[in-house]
Amino acid sequence: MKQKYKFFLKRIFYYIYGEKFYKRLDYNWSGLPSRTEIIQKIIDRKNYKDYLEIGCDNDENFSKINVENKIGVDPLKGGTLRMTSDDFFKKNEINFDVVFLDGLHTYEQTIKDINNSLKFLKKNGVILIHDCLPKKIWNQIVPRIYGHWNGDVWKAIVHSRTYEYADTYTCKVDHGLGVILKRKNSDRLELVKKNFKNLKFADYFNNHKKFMNPISHEDLDKIF
Ligand SMILES: C[S@@+](CC[C@H](N)C(=O)[O-])C[C@H]1O[C@@H](n2cnc3c(N)ncnc32)[C@H](O)[C@@H]1O
Repeated sequence: MKQKYKFFLKRIFYYIYGEKFYKRLDYNWSGLPSRTEIIQKIIDRKNYKDYLEIGCDNDENFSKINVENKIGVDPLKGGTLRMTSDDFFKKNEINFDVVFLDGLHTYEQTIKDINNSLKFLKKNGVILIHDCLPKKIWNQIVPRIYGHWNGDVWKAIVHSRTYEYADTYTCKVDHGLGVILKRKNSDRLELVKKNFKNLKFADYFNNHKKFMNPISHEDLDKIF
């Protein structure tokens, strides 16, 4: 059966048994800088040398990044190393200026990737995370049942917003680009319930600013 029909059947199942919240965020990414443009601008401005990309696929981004040293990790294709992020971080001994996380788009894997990246991030470095701003409920359901898949990466952003020593933002470009700096949290999110995986799309919608700390790409220069 074609994937389109499989997705359609799964959506009907989700309509019946899943969360029922159909409001949408009206983000429009067209005309805004791409992830590649933002990453390159940061590298050039900060004179960064060491770049790591987790999840490279067809190297659409990886091949365009111009930097002194780059490592790309993907178990299937693209990049420079054929392995999962977990296997990479187990053996890694390099510290990076920029880590771009775009691997498995689940909360569980992304928060693990964030925590591992923080261990290997240079003091003034930055972690960037793709697909943090789903527009509608369908984009963020795990496993994937819809065309554009953000997954529930956004829950990992909410989690890292509660850290004492990580300063987390979400830049409003290219499906949402999470930005984590290794410094004291300037606006720490206090949450009573800390089961991040159980957060609902309605929570994300109703607490959007508080949870995601969204900033425009023009404001990126102001935060570091
Ligand atoms: C959305 S694509 C990456 C796109 C690419 N970064 C870009 O900007 O064009 C996601 C990639 O993550 C890879 N992936 C899946 N699980 C992974 C894991 N555990 N560790 C690293 N990469 C993973 C997939 O093989 C896939 O190629």
